Amino acid sequence: MDINSKVAIVTGASSGIGAAFSEALIEKGAHVYGLARSTDKLEKVRQRLGDSFEPVSLDVTDHEAIESWTDSTFDDVHAPDILVNNAGVAAFGQVEELDIDDWDAMINTNISGVFYLTRCIVPLMKENENHCHIVNIASIAGMLGNPNLTGYNASKFGVRGFTEALFKEVRYDKIKVTGFYPGSIATEFFDKVGSETHANMMKPEEVADVFINVLETPDNFLINQVVMRPLNPKPPEELDE
Ligand SMILES: NC(=O)c1ccc[n+]([C@@H]2O[C@H](COP(=O)([O-])OP(=O)(O)OC[C@H]3O[C@@H](n4cnc5c(N)ncnc54)[C@H](OP(=O)(O)O)[C@@H]3O)[C@@H](O)[C@H]2O)c1
Repeated sequence: MDINSKVAIVTGASSGIGAAFSEALIEKGAHVYGLARSTDKLEKVRQRLGDSFEPVSLDVTDHEAIESWTDSTFDDVHAPDILVNNAGVAAFGQVEELDIDDWDAMINTNISGVFYLTRCIVPLMKENENHCHIVNIASIAGMLGNPNLTGYNASKFGVRGFTEALFKEVRYDKIKVTGFYPGSIATEFFDKVGSETHANMMKPEEVADVFINVLETPDNFLINQVVMRPLNPKPPEELDE
C-alpha cells in the first residue's frame, strides 16, 4: 500500500502506540481519524501533528455511538483504507481479587470494541476500490497465559481468535488483516496498571516503524501476525545486581 492520501482510523490515539502510529501515518501523508475518550488529550495530539489528525471523542464500548459516527463520516466517496483497533485497558491481579468492573472493562474495550468498530468499517472497505488493511493490536498476552492476567489474557486471546477468523473471511475482498502481538512497550499502560516503564522496554516509535513496514507491503503480500519483544526484557537495575 502507498500510504500517501489514504484515510486511516486509529483507536486509542490519545497516547502510547496509538499516538505513535497516528504520527507515523501522517508523516507518510495519510489523514487520520484518532479515536479515544479523552478529548483534551486528543486535542494535544492534534496540536502536535496538525490538521491531518482529526480527533474523535468516542468510547469504543458504545456500539451505537460507533455506528452513528461511521454512518455520518464515511460513504462511497470517502471510505476508510486503514483501520487500527488499538484501544485497550488492563487490570492485573489474582482471579479471586479481580474486580468485576475491571473484567467487564477489559472484555468490553479490548474485544467487544474491536468487533463494534470492525463490523461498521468492513462493509465500507468491501466497497472501496483500494486494497485496505485492518491491524488489530492484541499482545503477547494473546499468545501466552500468565498468573494475574486472567482477564487481560482472555480479552487478548479473544482478539487473536477474532483476527485469525477475520483474516480468512475478508482476504478475497482485498482487505488485509494483521494481528500484532507485542511484549512490553514503554507507554502510559504501565502507570495505569500501577507499574513502571524502564529503559529495556520497546519504544512506541519502534513499534510504529514495524507497523508502517507491514502496511507498505505489496498488495498480494500479507504479514498476518507480528510477534515482537524486547530482546532483554529486564529492567537495567536488575542486571546491575
Ligand atoms: N504497552 C505495552 O506493553 C503493550 C504491550 C502489548 C499490547 N499492548 C496493547 O496496545 C494497546 C495500546 O496500549 P498502549 O500501550 O499504547 O497504552 P495507553 O497509552 O494506555 O493507550 C491506551 C489507549 O486506549 C484508549 N482507550 C482505552 N479505553 C478506551 C475506550 N473505551 N474507548 C476508546 N479509547 C479507549 C486510551 O484513551 P482514553 O483513555 O483517552 O480513552 C488510550 O489512547 C492496548 O490495546 C494494549 O493492550 C500494550
